[in-house]
Amino acid sequence: MTSSRKKLPGELRSARWFAPDDLRSFGHRSRVMQMGYSQAEFTDKPVIAIINTWSDINQCHTHFKQRVEDVKRGVLQAGGFPLELPAISLSESAVKPTTMLYRNMLAMETEELIRSHPIDGVVLMGGCDKTTPGLMMGATSAGVPAIYVPAGPMLRGNWKGHVLGSGSDAWKFWDERRAGNISKEEWIGIEGGIARSAGTCMTMGTAATMMGIAEAMGMTLPGASSIPAVDANHVRMCADAGRRIVDMVWEDLTPAKILTRPAFENAIVIAMAMGCSTNAIIHVISMARRAGCDIGLDDFDAFSRKVPVIANIRPNGDTYLMEDFYYAGGLPGLMSRIPDRLHLDAITVNGKTLGENIAGAEVYNDDVIRTVDNPLYHEGALAVLKGNIAPDGCVMKPSACEPRYFKHAGPALVFDDYPSMKAAVEDENLDVTADHILILRNAGPQGGPGMPEWGMLPIPKKLVKQGVRDMLRMSDARMSGTSYGACILHVAPEAYIGGPLALVKTGDIISVDIPNRTINMEVSDEELARRRAEWTPPPKRFERGYGWMFSKHIRQANDGCDFDFLETDFGAPVGEPSI
Ligand code: FES
Ligand code: MG
Repeated sequence: MTSSRKKLPGELRSARWFAPDDLRSFGHRSRVMQMGYSQAEFTDKPVIAIINTWSDINQCHTHFKQRVEDVKRGVLQAGGFPLELPAISLSESAVKPTTMLYRNMLAMETEELIRSHPIDGVVLMGGCDKTTPGLMMGATSAGVPAIYVPAGPMLRGNWKGHVLGSGSDAWKFWDERRAGNISKEEWIGIEGGIARSAGTCMTMGTAATMMGIAEAMGMTLPGASSIPAVDANHVRMCADAGRRIVDMVWEDLTPAKILTRPAFENAIVIAMAMGCSTNAIIHVISMARRAGCDIGLDDFDAFSRKVPVIANIRPNGDTYLMEDFYYAGGLPGLMSRIPDRLHLDAITVNGKTLGENIAGAEVYNDDVIRTVDNPLYHEGALAVLKGNIAPDGCVMKPSACEPRYFKHAGPALVFDDYPSMKAAVEDENLDVTADHILILRNAGPQGGPGMPEWGMLPIPKKLVKQGVRDMLRMSDARMSGTSYGACILHVAPEAYIGGPLALVKTGDIISVDIPNRTINMEVSDEELARRRAEWTPPPKRFERGYGWMFSKHIRQANDGCDFDFLETDFGAPVGEPSI
């Protein structure tokens, strides 16, 4: 529980900048006054950083330009002093090779923005995939009170009466276009209809998953994560968050008091019940380890076997989207369906427990938010497989693939890089059947680099024309949370650093057994040793710059892909700036 003693103004962190009667503080005060503020506006008041990931190239955060004013309004009303600090935006659709290369950069930027400035509390504004974990990781390490303002999902897509879902319908209709069933003109119509307002992807992709997880961990106001970006309730939530963070500073309600092991277990349970993106695994592990909680792959597998998928949101099911989820009661509604699986005494940013926050929550549409007795899937939002091809594990989403692949053995068809795979799948003479297992390697954290979302390998055109729409695919890459299919991902250790995936050859039999959580290549240890002796590492990805640092310090997928030097137990904690 939080202490009831309120902080005194002289105990504010910002007082170290603004209170002393010395030359340094003269500089700090006079430079705030340079902006037109009088001393009464910032003296003895919590200084609230609003870390805003708005940019002109992040379409999911376009409303943040206005919403930041709503947050400021709340901060001012509660007697705080708001300062907007922009941070790298990480537009999921624009950044190459992948935003995952830069998640840790946002985390570092967030941590250091807070640490180096006179900040007492922070409002984190994000939503597009990597921004949620990046902001959260940095704020956790910085340690001042923090509240998360999720961008919220965009409105449903619409084209010729079809309700379109982000990502999922792009893949689906692209296969129809490849099969010759959709014209170029129709395709342009889909481009104009699939994303038609500010906000994040509105399927249960990584953005919706991570915003929901932020709420489940207790880092957002109740219900915040599913409010559509353009809904007036989103404006009100922003002002509420601005008001609340000021009180959190006086109460000293820091992330360390919220982000406990029970909070992360709540996050995993909710992720499973939502039918989450596979990316959640990497991000929750890295966020938890920043908070000193040793969450690993096995925790996900264990909860996956116990928690049914009850959110009927695409790509799970084929009907509803996040807008429907909000109208059906949103995350509080979903949590009210599984209270016995949650740690209801976990404290949240509003100072109340999760249990208090969901008391009275209702579900208004039992088809969108199912009951536990009538779930979408009884178990298996995620499965962690291990075996001689992935000794440190790999993951898949049984709920998004056809059950005939749950136990399968077939020959590997191996690609060493994305361009050769992309060219091969378009070749109608490719020697491939629906029983093959397509493998893409050298696409992991170091090999990709940045572990791009290449894991939903395209079905070879020859098979698409035969009507095949799913097959087993395997990689050390990730896949978009809006993707679907029998895709085995995050193989660790990755091929690029010499993981066993590097040793597979086309034609080797791979056997997958999802109920028993195993995946093996049927190749003898002696033969693998022989292949290992012949293996040479691929060329270096970076010789300078950020990428060089990334390649030196990035951890593997099963460890959350944080930088080793940012992990909590790496060296002594960073102290406060001394002068
Ligand atoms: Fe931003 Fe999907 S592109 S959430
Ligand atoms: Mg995505």
